[in-house]
Amino acid sequence: MLKNRIEGKWIDCFTRQFELCGVKAGDDVVILSETQSRDINVHLCELAMHRLGASAVHVVMPTPPQEVGVPVRSTGSTHALGMNAQALAALQGGVFVADCTVEGLMHSPETPLILGSGSRILYVSNDHPEALERTSTDESLIPKILRGREMLQAAKQFRVRSAAGSDFTCGLEGARIGGNIGVARDAGSMATWPGGINSFFPAAGTCNGTLVLSPGDINLTFKRYYENPVTLHIENDFVREIEGDNIDAELMREHYAFWDDRNAYGVSHLGWGMNPHARWEALLMYDKGDINATEQRAFAGNMLFSTGANPTAERYTLGHFDIPMRRCDMWLDETQIVEEGRLLGELA
Ligand SMILES: [Fe+2]
Repeated sequence: MLKNRIEGKWIDCFTRQFELCGVKAGDDVVILSETQSRDINVHLCELAMHRLGASAVHVVMPTPPQEVGVPVRSTGSTHALGMNAQALAALQGGVFVADCTVEGLMHSPETPLILGSGSRILYVSNDHPEALERTSTDESLIPKILRGREMLQAAKQFRVRSAAGSDFTCGLEGARIGGNIGVARDAGSMATWPGGINSFFPAAGTCNGTLVLSPGDINLTFKRYYENPVTLHIENDFVREIEGDNIDAELMREHYAFWDDRNAYGVSHLGWGMNPHARWEALLMYDKGDINATEQRAFAGNMLFSTGANPTAERYTLGHFDIPMRRCDMWLDETQIVEEGRLLGELA
């Protein structure tokens, strides 16, 4: 069992992470959290900022009321700020935000306002510090992630196939292309710790095909490995059928049905993991409450498929599945970038 006790080694690794983000003595920084945040991470941020000599303030929001009848997980879109003007003024007033909200600011409506002020944001994933320690940003990985982003920007089509039967394509024209290098170095930029994901939100009407989720793939909304095959049939961006006579398929059908919302079935973001320090099997070593499982979004060579909100396609919903798939082949146009879950060429 892991204890939530401050360890010197974690002050070291939080300090290093913020140093990589360029935080230095005298900087005005904000540690953003909510009342349901992981206290030890908030505390470690404070101690690391102290060590760096930065001038830190805490902004702590009450975790907002639950708006729906199921737990909302894995959206990457915290509602904790609620456009609160005082909080926003503080977040816009500094140069750096350590984001310790439960879901993170990645897709929140306030985020463009904060980044627009020139402040930069690092989402400290709501994981136990032991998981963050193992996945501290590896600077040697950053050029590869940036290269992956360039390749995405230059390509017209993303294609996925697998021996299990997946055959899926998605257009890249008009897509919003991201890529998470694990550190927020530039004014107005945002990153996530752990980092190491190349991703994009496809434009509307560009995704078609079949994805066969296989044993060992992970439903991160449930924090559960698939133990049975589930086949998703996707037409013009939307999951039309969830095929499988097993508990994994049934759980997905039930959760989708709860939302009673066509957009929940729409393709959200897609991409691939780049981080060799992120471990596929580590989900088994933690209690669910200890992790947010950002690590399992980032492990090298996974195909990260998701359904739910897609701002590029102007689809909004709280229903969100993040599903890293193993052993896929992936192409950008004619260039194969992943073979059976192994990164190839410049990305290897
Ligand atoms: Fe997601």
